[in-house]
Amino acid sequence: MQKLILLLRETDFTELLHVSHCSVSAAHLEKSANKCCQLESILYYFITLIFIPNMSSYTTAIQLVVATTAVHLLLKRRRQVSIAEAKKRAESSKALSKLGAFFRGRKTKKETDRMKKKHLKNRDPSYMAPYNPSVNDVIDTALDMLNINNSHTLWDLGCGDGRMVVEACVRYGCMGCGVEYDKSLCESSIERAKKNGVEHSVSILHENIMNVDFSSARRMYLFLLPDGLKQLTNRLKQVLLNTDARIVTYAFSILALKPIEIRDHKGTKLYLYTAESIV
Ligand SMILES: C[S@@+](CC[C@H](N)C(=O)[O-])C[C@H]1O[C@@H](n2cnc3c(N)ncnc32)[C@H](O)[C@@H]1O
Repeated sequence: MQKLILLLRETDFTELLHVSHCSVSAAHLEKSANKCCQLESILYYFITLIFIPNMSSYTTAIQLVVATTAVHLLLKRRRQVSIAEAKKRAESSKALSKLGAFFRGRKTKKETDRMKKKHLKNRDPSYMAPYNPSVNDVIDTALDMLNINNSHTLWDLGCGDGRMVVEACVRYGCMGCGVEYDKSLCESSIERAKKNGVEHSVSILHENIMNVDFSSARRMYLFLLPDGLKQLTNRLKQVLLNTDARIVTYAFSILALKPIEIRDHKGTKLYLYTAESIV
């Protein structure tokens, strides 16, 4: 009996400590403590029921009931104190984090969320992907799928630092045309072309893809988000009608077209489209 009461006491205490550390909502704390109280009362009732018939004297039985009730009341009180403390702790930790953010010159989570929302609302509607350069293995695979020769011009819509077009020009002696609306990335592309001695074969257009006429292209590479690809779908279909045209997209596919070949690079796919992709 003693052991059981001790065990109960310990279990409740651990749970309360855990709950207060997690700083869950006050309503939740109260609910869980009340549930514990109810369970505990039921348990005590059953213990008394089991033990009383075996008692040698009524005095011992009464002693037992008094003892269990006392323990129950004690635990209940302790729980109430812990709940009040947990509430206080949660409030002071919230206030502390606000103060910390203020002194560090940082925004609170609420402010950051508000800014993100505002940014998304005011985002350039022509935004098609963030800057995320293709790695060397992907460039190798894409160039292989594109089957380029020196009569071609490789277009990269959203060319980033120009690595794809420059590499194509170096390897195949072809021409390259990159479109990029980030000025500093355009400058990096030109720098890269110069470094590799292909500056005369590479053109970098500092433009929004939506304003560029690429209808005559026969080799294209696109690493853009699904929404960007969707906006370009009709124009890409027109490109695929050009003789022997090939388009490779990385990471995301063009939903309205059927890929002719799919290759995998560490779980991310490259999709090849030709005239046969138009269904
Ligand atoms: C995922 S990166 C790919 C860079 C490069 N193609 C590569 O594979 O290394 C996408 C690029 O598209 C550019 N971009 C996104 N939307 C654009 C738009 N509407 N016009 C021009 N460039 C855009 C971004 O600035 C970014 O550099």
